[in-house]
Amino acid sequence: MNLNTDYNIKNVGDVITLNGWVQKVRNLGGVIFIDLRDRSGIMQLVVRPESSSYEVASNLKGEYVIKVTGEIVAREKANSNIPTGEIEVDVKTIELLNKSLELPFEVSDTTTALEDTRLKYRYLDLRRNALSSNLITRHKITLAVRNFLDSERFIEVETPVLCKSTPEGARDYLVPSRVNKGKFYALPQSPQIFKQLLMVGGIERYFQIAKCFRDEDLRADRQPEFTQIDIEMSFVDEDDVMSLAERLVAHVFKEIKGIDIKLPLMKMKYDDAIEKYGSDKPDLRFGMEINDITDIFSNTEIGFFKSNIENGGVINAIVAKGAASKYSRKEIDKLTDYVKTYKASGLAYVKLEDEISGSIVKLMSDEEKTNLVSKLSLEKGDIVFIISDKYNIVKTALGALRCKLARDLNLIDPTDYKLLWVVDFPSFEWSEEEGRFMATHHPFTAPKDEDVDKLLTDKAHCYSKAYDIVINGYEAGGGSIRIHDEAVQEKMFEALELTPEQIKSKFGFFVDALKYGTPPHGGLAFGLDRLTMLLTGTENIRDVIAFPKTASASDLMSECPNVVDDAQLKELGIKIER
Ligand code: AMO
Repeated sequence: MNLNTDYNIKNVGDVITLNGWVQKVRNLGGVIFIDLRDRSGIMQLVVRPESSSYEVASNLKGEYVIKVTGEIVAREKANSNIPTGEIEVDVKTIELLNKSLELPFEVSDTTTALEDTRLKYRYLDLRRNALSSNLITRHKITLAVRNFLDSERFIEVETPVLCKSTPEGARDYLVPSRVNKGKFYALPQSPQIFKQLLMVGGIERYFQIAKCFRDEDLRADRQPEFTQIDIEMSFVDEDDVMSLAERLVAHVFKEIKGIDIKLPLMKMKYDDAIEKYGSDKPDLRFGMEINDITDIFSNTEIGFFKSNIENGGVINAIVAKGAASKYSRKEIDKLTDYVKTYKASGLAYVKLEDEISGSIVKLMSDEEKTNLVSKLSLEKGDIVFIISDKYNIVKTALGALRCKLARDLNLIDPTDYKLLWVVDFPSFEWSEEEGRFMATHHPFTAPKDEDVDKLLTDKAHCYSKAYDIVINGYEAGGGSIRIHDEAVQEKMFEALELTPEQIKSKFGFFVDALKYGTPPHGGLAFGLDRLTMLLTGTENIRDVIAFPKTASASDLMSECPNVVDDAQLKELGIKIER
């Protein structure tokens, strides 16, 4: 079956048959023009009064489904906005294949329909080119991935979806078992344990386009069910996995965008990423790095700076070059509210215009002013935003503000791609909630060789063989070298304060497997949805998924999740507390 865009000016004179939907009908004093839409684009049809199909054509309405036969002719006036703009089809016959109700919204890329309405009628939304072209790109990405990994001798293996809980740190989606009443399967948060077991099983090079399920707070780049390009390799170190992964990404960028990505990608240590960008996924498409200016204020009279420094806090700043005039008091108040959502106690600012002004200037000594100007290389027209607080709060809040300012000030070139590796993650993160150190990644992540001895004694300074690939401020993928030595794995469990009973019940089978000649191995997983977002230029993950969930994890079209019959619950031995 041919599509509209298979034809062009070279086909003039061909008699063809096309199928599709009526996008628009215009009756221009006798001659009827129809825009016929299929997934490839639009073809203009012309039906003349003398045509035997004129009657059918006159009764066509939007989204009716038709089959037409006719001759391709050159248009009198070409339309350079569409691929078929030089031609049209002089219709001989039209067959009405189906009618349509009036639509709840217009099938057009410029639709103003609310997203909730589009999600309720997702099958209509999918008719829009904006969405269908994203799905086509997603298909091409998966194809490029499969071809590349096949050429690197990886094999695609499917792993179970009904399985035991996997330790990725989110809540599990649970599925009750009817046969084993009171017992539950968990849907995999990732195929982590299974892919490691495939390495124990000698598969050596595995990949899978894998569905993953995580019950976590949703954001614009997160879905409760999403897809990973999941990879695992044996007999490798960090550089081997990173090299494979970046060659894969470069291949995909070349295939999809025709862009050459320069390899090897730069590597940035986690601690440096936090220090300079306030994020473990820094967006390098713009500068505005975070500067530590604590030393300028070591003898300050500014009360809240002074007490913060005395309490071990820091003072950091970012400079928006030439943007002083763009930020009124009102705008700065809004930015203050914004950083407060990241727990910062406030936001100070200094503007350098004809003179120096700002919220803290009256309190600053002349020396502090001079040092600020010289340390930050301030020029006339610059504005400095300053946060004084605990280290982590300062970094996170300024990191977020940096990205917001870049968007507001249009500092980002949408055609630019900046890729990097973030490496040397800490093995543990302190959890205020739990009052203990937790694994930054999953508990099978290998610590750096030099830190194995510190696992039990100095958790704050243990680093792991983990790496994340970051593209334009998104974590596009992440992975690690795994622990393959049973003794180190036991030490790690101990460091995570897991009791022998917990270890046995959670991962007993896995720990047992490690005892049977486990090869050194490692891998990573890309978020396929996120990669597709980056390559299609959308910031909304729902735009790259055919049937996505809302922010409250529901499908508005099928109304899922939903209640089930009492009989079904009874069979499962489940009672609902109301
Ligand atoms: P991780 O948890 O970092 O690693 O996930 C890998 C990648 O998956 C994507 N991702 C998501 N995409 C959309 N919605 C979500 N809720 C979501 N969560 C994660 C991100 C992320 O980088 N088993 C390890 C991988 C490994 O160690 O090999 C894992 O799952 O792009």
